[in-house]
Amino acid sequence: MLVLLAGIFVVHIATVIMLFVSTIANVWVVSDTTKASVGLWKNCTVGTCDGALEYAHEDALKAVQAFMILSIIFSVISLVVFVYQLFTMEKGNRFFLSGATMLVCWLCIMVGVSIYTYHYAGGQQTFYYRSHHGYCFILTWICFCFSFIIGILYLVLRKK
Ligand SMILES: *[C@@H]1O[C@H](CO)[C@@H](O)[C@H](O)[C@H]1NC(C)=O
Repeated sequence: MLVLLAGIFVVHIATVIMLFVSTIANVWVVSDTTKASVGLWKNCTVGTCDGALEYAHEDALKAVQAFMILSIIFSVISLVVFVYQLFTMEKGNRFFLSGATMLVCWLCIMVGVSIYTYHYAGGQQTFYYRSHHGYCFILTWICFCFSFIIGILYLVLRKK
């Protein structure tokens, strides 16, 4: 039981870190031929990462940015609530609040990454001749799976 809680705690921290990295690093779509990449904020096509993104659907990108930031906030809140409940909650109760918050995080990731996948993940949107998904995109989908599993486990587990 304690091992399981410790395991979830570690996976939760890993998820928070991965969400941070994937939101901040501009490596969502990478060119096959050069090291050029684009992310949620910047266009790293010419050497340094300070090019502006020139997308047709600016609003969708803003929504992705917003949902990714929300997902970070909710995952951190969920972690704090979990630690708090670990020390204050009576035995036998479920980690309902941390679970519910983590599922909200999961929803935010789902909406954000779905919009990105729909509008931007395809290579033609980046104007690279040929491209593939960068590690940020993959990390975000991993976080999508992890946050769901963590959320469900929090709801199911009882404090012993
Ligand atoms: C990124 O910058 C390059 C070079 O300036 C440009 O050709 C490309 O269209 C830009 N991509 C996006 C998504 O803004």
